[in-house]
Amino acid sequence: MSYDFDEVIDRRNTGAMAKDGFRNYLFGGQDPVVLPCADEDAISMWVADMAFASAPAARAAMVDRVERHPIFGYSAVFEPELYDSFARWCDAHYRWRPQAEHFTTSAGIVPALMDFAEIFVGDGDAVLTLTPAYGYFKHSSAKYDRELITCALVEDESGRYTVDMADFEAKITTSPVRMFFLCHPHNPTGRLWTNDELRQMADVCIANEVLIISDEIHCDLLRAGTTHTPLAKLYPDYDKIVTCMSSSKTFNLAGLGIANVIIANDELRERWLDHVSPLVNPLSEAAAIGVFSHGHAWHRDLINYLDANFAYLAEVLAEKLPKAVFSIPDATYLAWVNLAAYFPNDLNLTRYFAETCGVLLEGGDMFVADADGHVRLNLACPRSVLANGLDKIVDATNNFAGLRTDSVANPPKV
Ligand SMILES: Cc1ncc(COP(=O)(O)O)c(C=O)c1O
Repeated sequence: MSYDFDEVIDRRNTGAMAKDGFRNYLFGGQDPVVLPCADEDAISMWVADMAFASAPAARAAMVDRVERHPIFGYSAVFEPELYDSFARWCDAHYRWRPQAEHFTTSAGIVPALMDFAEIFVGDGDAVLTLTPAYGYFKHSSAKYDRELITCALVEDESGRYTVDMADFEAKITTSPVRMFFLCHPHNPTGRLWTNDELRQMADVCIANEVLIISDEIHCDLLRAGTTHTPLAKLYPDYDKIVTCMSSSKTFNLAGLGIANVIIANDELRERWLDHVSPLVNPLSEAAAIGVFSHGHAWHRDLINYLDANFAYLAEVLAEKLPKAVFSIPDATYLAWVNLAAYFPNDLNLTRYFAETCGVLLEGGDMFVADADGHVRLNLACPRSVLANGLDKIVDATNNFAGLRTDSVANPPKV
């Protein structure tokens, strides 16, 4: 391995949500949370960014831009390099090339999700998603008063999730669903949907004129040996699929605020472009070009490191929490662990682990619906941090039986 993913980097006082921003995001509006340690000593396994140094190719490209040209005025994408480097990356990794004229940028996928809920769905229309789900599918719909209809995924005894196609179809045909937020690969379950599953879902959407937003932000974070198929690749002649991808998850650049949104349909793309600012941060653009062009080796090492972290987690759970249900996900650096055998369903697990052992993770109630008893652990951290966090999680879980349950704070669900 050429890159050092074992290095523990101190993120204090760098504006990191993971470190300094957790109170508001995880516990805003709740009774004060009292950690068993100083806030700065809490182990962060929640927000989906990595505790690793970003890819050197990103940093080198930004330094080069700073040194090469001293002006950082209003900037937009006029040169072809961003598209070209992204298209080459897509070709190399998914054997798919979006067309240049369909390619747009956004300040992030979350701002784009917000905009889609505003501009692509009308009053009285509903949005569909698979649950458990990434919280912003709900927040974006709620912000514009769009009803969010949920289709509960089915979890088997090994912790693997599948789509209930009968329910999916019923929800679409009996409700005013106009837009489907697909998450592929899926956060939080880590499922990389098979081509069959993708086709089954998309065919129902197409037959019922439901616009598909395919949020593929986790598409490069695969277990070694697997490949990602963009939904749009399966439908080259159909244009009502919006594909969201980003260098931000893959290369740990979320703070740079740049993402790619591919909209094949001319009318939808024009509406979107009319709605959003064309400006981009020139450093972010440089970083994205840098990693899409020169980030391959770092990305390969990252995948191997994450694979080993997942194997380690599986081993620890099997040995120390045998009633936990967990299967190594196809994709993402997020582990979705079912601890329902250890805790009552209505316990706020985010708060429980923060207060009892100082580990910051995301409990099921942060994932829209159908996630009681589950926790999401961010495994994109050095092995030593993971080992320490898991020790604490194991102890706090095994100790729960010895606690009076009414001594555990249990605020209302989000
Ligand atoms: C499915 C999904 N979409 C979007 C985002 C965030 O996108 P961005 O940082 O580009 O706003 C995340 C972050 O975890 C995510 O999991």
